[in-house]
Amino acid sequence: MSNDAVSAVINVDIEGPQISKHVYGHFAEHLGRCIYGGFYVGEDSDIPNVRGIRLDVVEALRALDIPNLRWPGGCFADEYHWMDGIGPKEDRAVMINTHWGGVEEDNSFGTHEFMDLCELLETEPYIAGNVGSGTVREMSEWIEYLTREGDSPMVRLRKANGREAPWKVKFWGLGNEPWGCGGNMNAEQYALEARKFATYCRDYGDNKLYRIAAGAADADYQWTQKLMEQLGHLGCQRVERKLYQAVSLHYYTIGGTWDKKGDAKEFSTDEYYTTMLKALHTDELLTGHSNVMDLYDPTKEIGIVMDEWGTWWDVEPGTNPGFLYQQNTMRDALVASLHFDIFHKHADRLVMANIAQTVNVLQAMILTDPDSGALVLTPTYHVFQMNKGHQDAASLRVDAPAGLPTREVDGKELPTVSVSASRKDGRLLVSLSNLDAEAGQDVEVDLRGGGLGEFEALILTADSLQAHNTPEALEAVAPRAHEGVKLEGSKLRVHLPAHSFVTVSGALA
Ligand code: AHR
Repeated sequence: MSNDAVSAVINVDIEGPQISKHVYGHFAEHLGRCIYGGFYVGEDSDIPNVRGIRLDVVEALRALDIPNLRWPGGCFADEYHWMDGIGPKEDRAVMINTHWGGVEEDNSFGTHEFMDLCELLETEPYIAGNVGSGTVREMSEWIEYLTREGDSPMVRLRKANGREAPWKVKFWGLGNEPWGCGGNMNAEQYALEARKFATYCRDYGDNKLYRIAAGAADADYQWTQKLMEQLGHLGCQRVERKLYQAVSLHYYTIGGTWDKKGDAKEFSTDEYYTTMLKALHTDELLTGHSNVMDLYDPTKEIGIVMDEWGTWWDVEPGTNPGFLYQQNTMRDALVASLHFDIFHKHADRLVMANIAQTVNVLQAMILTDPDSGALVLTPTYHVFQMNKGHQDAASLRVDAPAGLPTREVDGKELPTVSVSASRKDGRLLVSLSNLDAEAGQDVEVDLRGGGLGEFEALILTADSLQAHNTPEALEAVAPRAHEGVKLEGSKLRVHLPAHSFVTVSGALA
């Protein structure tokens, strides 16, 4: 079954705002098996590792060109005291991870291990500092420890712990979810705290911090407004700089309710459509928060960092409820592809987005088997891979003069076709998703203002929306070459099977 063909137009010679590579960012928290067992197995593990870091995970993520990694939380960030995680491992303090399963955290993965991981991944660190239970001094000293050259107490401590040269750290978070797990503050309280903490987040040498104030959840526009009101300027400097350069936003796609989120693998078609409608809500949220910010910052100097997004399902049966371990199906892949189309559309304000979370937690790229250690790449991983050419590319507007097909879901209109496009280094990348669960869709894309030469088409789909990968079926959902794309003059005719994601890339002639 196929729906009637639809048309879209892309003016390939009219470049829109650049899509920040950082919207393909990641998030790794001390939560369940994300850090321990996921990234870090310790030096004595049988799993091949370098200084305790799993090599297979590093290799898989390097193939995605991941631009940044946010750490150590999440909620964990606001009870993390960085000095507990430096120095000889046997001397490191043990703490209780009260948010996530009440497990003991031995701090064997700390600052040096995280920076080592970032170097192995060739990715930029994004550190979330502790505002909830930490002090201004503690945060300030962490930055000195990480980034200062020369001679000072924290520099001496770093060198004593084996690291001579400072690291480069740009992205710095001023707490996490302060309206909840990060201190239960109201917007006024946090806005004042953010000003204070930001003041002492110093730039050392040529290390320039990009300070990210902890923003709203969902449609809490009042929170964003309060933060924008308190933006202020860094005092005592000739160069006027804002206290923070971005505000964050968290939004999770939850098919059901917070109490009953739904099963990750067993769901009805109706539940699937509800999920896609919830994912689409991200577009409305980015528009809404950006509109509030426009009132204070019409030139869009201050960015939005959507540093937590993705699906959140009930945990897999038999696993620790505090570990947030869930499977990942073709449905999750389409949630991701739809998010990227939305992110590309908001390239003028959205500077970063971090999927939650990279390994073994929530909408992960990678699942590792706790017994055999086997590594599974999820359908979501493949969307990141197929879309990586959009990183730092110029966005291209996609128009559908006659409209796109829609279906009514829960009293609202859900467009069932989603398209985005970009160009970089003379190459075009078009991403197309067919959200229809059962019907195929033909799309005729008119490429105006430039021809396309040789191209490659890839497809990610499966027999069912519930399809997922396991150690026994590693490629149940994996990209394949797609024969259903034809180029006729300036027209790209793309066949999208039901519930599929397709990319077409090639050199512009
Ligand atoms: O990603 C899991 C949790 O979700 C994070 O720790 C928190 O910030 C959010 O509520």
